[in-house]
This record gives sequence, C-alpha cells and structure tokens, in this order.
Amino acid sequence: MLAWQTTLSLSRRLAATVRRTSARLLSADVEPRMPPCDFEPLPFEGMPRDKVKAVRSTNLSPAVFSYYKEPLYAYQGHKQWLFDSEGKRYLDLFAGIVTVGVGHCHPKVVQATKRQIDKLWHTTNIYWHSTLHEYAERLVALLPEDLNVVYMCNSGSEANDLAMLMARLHTGAFDIISLRNAYHGMSPYTMGVTALGNWTHQLPNGFGCHQTVNPDVYRGPWGGSKCRESICQVADRICSCSPGECVASDKYVEQLDDMMKHSMPKKIAGFMAEYIQGVGGTVHLPKGFLPDAYELVRQRGGVCIADEVQTGFGRVGTHFWGFQQAGVKPDIVVLAKSIANGFPMGAVVTNATIAKSLTGALHFNTYGGNPIGCAAAIAVLDVIEEEKLQERCRTVGDYFMRKLLELRDEYAVIGDVRGTGLMLGMEMVDDQETRKPMAPQRVNALWDDTKDLGILVGKGGLYGSTFRIKPPMCITEEDVDFAIAVFRKALNRL
Ligand SMILES: Cc1ncc(COP(=O)(O)O)c(C=O)c1O
Repeated sequence: MLAWQTTLSLSRRLAATVRRTSARLLSADVEPRMPPCDFEPLPFEGMPRDKVKAVRSTNLSPAVFSYYKEPLYAYQGHKQWLFDSEGKRYLDLFAGIVTVGVGHCHPKVVQATKRQIDKLWHTTNIYWHSTLHEYAERLVALLPEDLNVVYMCNSGSEANDLAMLMARLHTGAFDIISLRNAYHGMSPYTMGVTALGNWTHQLPNGFGCHQTVNPDVYRGPWGGSKCRESICQVADRICSCSPGECVASDKYVEQLDDMMKHSMPKKIAGFMAEYIQGVGGTVHLPKGFLPDAYELVRQRGGVCIADEVQTGFGRVGTHFWGFQQAGVKPDIVVLAKSIANGFPMGAVVTNATIAKSLTGALHFNTYGGNPIGCAAAIAVLDVIEEEKLQERCRTVGDYFMRKLLELRDEYAVIGDVRGTGLMLGMEMVDDQETRKPMAPQRVNALWDDTKDLGILVGKGGLYGSTFRIKPPMCITEEDVDFAIAVFRKALNRL
C-alpha cells in the first residue's frame, strides 16, 4: 500500500470512529419496553416441552431444524404477537417466515375460514365451488391485464415447479436462469434454480439451470451509493451515476449477457428471480437490473418469472408487487406464503397463451384451490385493503429503516441495512471496513439475546449473517421503537 493510501485509509477509519462515537453519544440507551397488548393467551394445553424435545429428536426427520439455542415453543398468536407455552409474549418480526402477512389469527380471516369450514372443507377443482372462482377473479384484478389465468397449488416450491414447467413447455426450450444467492424452493425442479451452497444436496440435479452473478451492490464486485429504490443505500460505496443511470446494474447485466453467450443455446426457456431475495438475506436488486435482464432473456425467446412468494401482497410498501417497484412486467408470477396468511397455498398466474402449455397432458393436484384456503385468501385481500396495510408497510417500513440506519451509524458490526417497506435486512460483519461476515457464534449469541429480550427475527444469506425483518404488516412505530431498543441492548452486550 502506498503512503498516501495508508493515510487515506487511516483518516477514513478515524472519521468513521468519530461518526460512531458521536452517534452513540446522541442516542439514548432506552431500556426495551414491550408495547402493551390487551390480549390474554389461553392456558397452555399441549405436549410438555421435554416430550416435544424427545419426539423431535426421535420421530421427526433430522432435517427439521430449530431456531435458537433454547427453541421457542409457540402456542398462540395474536396480530404481531406470538405467545410461547409459558405465556411469554414476543414481537414477531419474522411472521412465520414472511407468511402471516396480515397478523396472527386475524379475526376476519379466522371468521372467513370458520364459515367455510362449516360448509365445505374440501373438494378438488374438478367440481365447481365458489371460493376458488371468487379468489381467481379478485387476484387477477390486482395484476397486469393479460396476466389473468391462475393455477392454484399448495406451496411456493410447487408453484415455482409449475412455473418452470410452463416456461419449458411453452417455449419448447429447456434452459432456465436464476441468480446466485437465490432461494426458490427445495423440490427437485426448484433445487436447480436455488443457488445457496448450504441448501445444496450432494446429488445430480438442476439440469438446464444456470446462475448468473448476483447483483448484490453491498457484497458483490460493483455497487454505488444510489443503486437501490430505497432510502437504504450502501454506506461506503460511492458513485457518480446521473439520475436514471446505474453503472453497477449495467455491470451485472453484462455478466448475465456474457454467461448467456458462453453457456446457453440460442433459445432458452426462461429466467426466474425475486426482486428482493428473501432467504438470500434481503438482497435488494439495483434498479434497472431486472428491466435489462428481462430484455436479454426475451431476446432468446425465454419467459420471465417473478417469484413474489415473499415480496408480494403489499410488503414492499410502494407497490402491491415487488416487480412493480422493479419496473418490469413478468410473463409468469409465482405466489405463496402470505397469500392465505399461513394456510398452505400457492398460485401461478400467467397469460392465456402460456397457460395453455399445460394442457398437452392431464395436470392435476388434489389440494390446489381448496375451499378453505381460497376463503382465507379472499379475506386476506379484504384486510390488506381495509386496513391499508400496503400503506402501513411504506410508512412504518420507512420509520424502521431510518432507525436501523441510525444503528448502523452507531455500531461498526452492522455492515449494511437494506430493503424497502417491511422487507428489511441488517447484515452483521466483523467490521464495516473489512465487511468480513460476522462469525456464526457471535451472530447466534446476538440472535438468542434478541429472542430473550422479546423479539423474533429471521436469519439468512450465504453466511447466515443477515437478520431478516419481515413482520406481520400490522406492526406499529411503537413496536419498531421496542425492536430497536432490543437490538441496541443486545449489541451493547455483544
Ligand atoms: C422466494 C421463495 N420462493 C419459493 C419458496 C418456497 O416456498 P415453500 O416453502 O412454500 O415451498 C420460498 C420459501 O421460503 C421463498 O422464500
């Protein structure tokens, strides 16, 4: 390193230390006070905790893993609150993995479900029943006009499987591209488009699946200070892009183009991506990437699949769907998780031409379009509208982001804060300068502490070092203040 570079690096470190010290001095260390809640959980009835432990270790697949050193034994849920078997209350900032969108046991969803249970639990889609058709009509009204054909199924993996199948049948081509760091499911087909080493089994799979460089403007080779459609930008990367320009995004698109030129046939089946990667640790793609990527894919005859399993239903705040914020119109949209607030359900929505591809042979699933699931899903749409939950994601999400950015200014172990609406992530590092991912033991110590102090967050990313904050969309600013006080206390202890 040259002498002037050493001096520059030292002065940057000094400036960062001064900034952090003054931020710490300005911030008040508030003892976390959980906002009140007038809901009383029922007395616990269920298997004793030690019996659960025994059954889990003996009779459940060893692949089923538990969060936390002292696993949470959940019993009851109410809005943004989760109660454990001992009646302890937690602020649930992970929503059953981004699934309980409108809040635990939302009365309107509960009532709609109960009403349906009393009438008809199940019949397959070979018979006509009302809720399936009511829901299809409601759902397509929220999507671009020609995306008006729905196939309902049971889960996100199944929906992505189906989307891949349709892309292949429709185009007559086979190859599908996804992004490194993506998670699209664990079924045999989707394993090929999921691209995270710790989710990869040692067996041949993923024929015809290719991954391009992930446009991660924090950890990837390129990134600047204005790449994301958000108030959360990378702290220490600078750029001089003019409005409408994003050089980092262009570089990642060049990589996609290069990969296609080197590894792909002239005709491809499609491209699948989330606009903000969920399991991958809330990696928020730079604006401009998806429009350019979609163009390249379409030049090769491929269809573009938006995985909205986590980003859908208002969570990104500015729009109802993530792809709208990204400025693209997909050919196939995949939905699951918060679609029915936790009732197992998924859906694939596409246009009439692509949908026809599935008619070359019989195609069927038993539970897709189940009457109870559809009743729950209709109520979810009502609640989002009536309680203006998309708007709440924007306002409370903005508030949350600003508070997390303040934390990043205070603590050198917070490398990046990212996301939009109530789809947020906070990446932990050894040090902001090196960006070395925080060691798992330290992340886990912090994580366990936040749980003991009363909040539940997820973890994700290749190194498991990003806290994932994706709460039920009904949380309040008071809840955010509590969560921030918990993070601050846990960080101070660390
Ligand atoms: C973006 C995304 N797509 C697909 C899936 C798979 O959904 P499921 O677990 O319902 O199969 C997930 C699950 O976490 C996901 O986050």
